[in-house]
Amino acid sequence: MGRLQGKTVFITGASAGIGEASARQFAEEGCNLIITARRLEKLEGLKKKLQEGHPNIYIHAVQLDVQKVDQINKVVAELPDAVKDVDVLLNNAGMVIGVDHLVDVEEAVVDQMLSTNIKGLVFLTKALVPRMKERGTGHIINIGSVAGKQAYAGGSIYCATKFAVDAITKALAIELVDTPIRVSQICPGLVNTEFSTVRFRGDKEKADNVYKGIQPLVADDIAELIVFTAGRPAHVNIADMLVFPVNQADSKTVYRRSE
Ligand SMILES: NC(=O)c1ccc[n+]([C@@H]2O[C@H](COP(=O)([O-])OP(=O)(O)OC[C@H]3O[C@@H](n4cnc5c(N)ncnc54)[C@H](OP(=O)(O)O)[C@@H]3O)[C@@H](O)[C@H]2O)c1
Repeated sequence: MGRLQGKTVFITGASAGIGEASARQFAEEGCNLIITARRLEKLEGLKKKLQEGHPNIYIHAVQLDVQKVDQINKVVAELPDAVKDVDVLLNNAGMVIGVDHLVDVEEAVVDQMLSTNIKGLVFLTKALVPRMKERGTGHIINIGSVAGKQAYAGGSIYCATKFAVDAITKALAIELVDTPIRVSQICPGLVNTEFSTVRFRGDKEKADNVYKGIQPLVADDIAELIVFTAGRPAHVNIADMLVFPVNQADSKTVYRRSE
């Protein structure tokens, strides 16, 4: 039996990309799942598929917009008994809109990035850590980014949110150092998901150009590392992981082959 068998994993942003791939891979390990996002129909489709392949795990699919603190608290308060004790929280929901320079950034877009990428992660963590402390077990895994290590033009606000994830991860690890709760961060480079389509407001051609001439990471590459991080023995904490496709060296240094 693997170390993750029977553990309960709470995933934000499970309707697509890295979150969805993580749900699939945690299910393979025999974990019970709380899958959340704004698009409930996607979650229900994922639940159905996973439940067919894994009839013995418990899956709770619930709509959650992490920008809304009252929704976070309600979802946590109303967790079914089977999954009310969360072992792993994967703070994955996140997004970027646009590549505008700071002087052109719209207020609504700033608010959405700050409240999704920072506030959501903070308040969900806040809602779950007290019970983890009571139970003497728990693992918070935050999805940061290379954008949280190195700023770039056209990414001021997104980079700021991911620098915040980096700071929050480190501060929380210090605050919880005298507990068995682990705090980890995984920071991907270019991963081919819906992320760029969201960034370019649905313009698929612009989104595809981001990955032109390179072999980007795929969601399953990151999910594998998330599951690996969660599956280490209880005394081992992977604090921080920076992961690139092979032809990426930092936020903007990418070697592209001409096609
Ligand atoms: N792809 C990359 O190149 C890359 C690189 C570094 C870091 N990351 C980070 O990886 C994480 C996952 O991104 P991804 O690449 O998997 O992108 P994705 O395919 O666009 O998935 C993003 C997920 O976040 C959810 N989400 C967005 N806003 C939300 C909100 N307000 N409340 C709840 N859920 C919300 C989306 O679900 P709904 O729309 O259904 O709510 C979706 O499930 C993000 O934190 C991102 O910043 C991505």
